[in-house]
Amino acid sequence: MTFKDLITKRESIRNYDAERKVDQASLTRILEAGWVAPSAANRQPWKFYLVSTKENLDKVRTCYDRAWFHEAPHVLIVAGKRKEAWERKYDGYNALETDLTIAMDHMILAAESEGVSTCWIAAFDPEKLIRTGILDDHEEVFAITPLGYPKQGFAKKGLKARKPFYEVVRFV
Ligand SMILES: Cc1cc2nc3c(=O)[nH]c(=O)nc-3n(C[C@H](O)[C@H](O)[C@H](O)COP(=O)(O)O)c2cc1C
Repeated sequence: MTFKDLITKRESIRNYDAERKVDQASLTRILEAGWVAPSAANRQPWKFYLVSTKENLDKVRTCYDRAWFHEAPHVLIVAGKRKEAWERKYDGYNALETDLTIAMDHMILAAESEGVSTCWIAAFDPEKLIRTGILDDHEEVFAITPLGYPKQGFAKKGLKARKPFYEVVRFV
C-alpha cells in the first residue's frame, strides 16, 4: 500500500466485531509505531495501554457510552505525564498533548496498514477513565481508540468530505 493509499483509506470506524481479536504480532507492530514516534526533546513522556482483558475493557467502557465502542475487542489509551514533557522556556508551552497526539496518529496509521480499524475518541469522560485504576498517577489522556475489525458485511464509507484543497492550502 502506498502512503497516499494508507492516509486516504483510513477512516473512523464505529462498528466492531467483539469476537475477533487482533493477533499479537499486529498489535506489537502497531505499538512499535508509537514507540518510534518523535517527541519534543525526545522526552517520550508517554505510556501506551493496550486494553484487551474483559475485566479492563468493562472498566474502560464506562468512560464512553456508545454501543459500538463497547463491542471493540481492544482499546488503546495513550497517556502521559506533563512533568515529563518538554517545555518551551519563553512562554511555558508544554509539549505533552502534541507528543501524545503524534504517537496516537502513528499508531492509527500503523493499524490501518495492518488492516485494523480505529476511531479517534476525545469525547470520553476523563474522570471515569482515571477511576478505572488502569492509569498511573498524574497521567493525562487526550485520546483513546478502539482497535478491531468491523462486523461481517460492514462497508467502509470512503473518504469523508474535506474542505476544498485551496481553501486550506496557501502556496506563499
Ligand atoms: C481530536 C479528535 C477527536 C475525535 N473525537 C471523536 C469522538 O469522541 N467520537 C467519535 O466518534 N469520533 C471522534 N473523532 C473522529 C472524527 O469525527 C473523524 O476523524 C472526522 O469526522 C473525519 O472522519 P474520518 O476519521 O472518517 O476521516 C475525533 C477525531 C479527532 C481528530
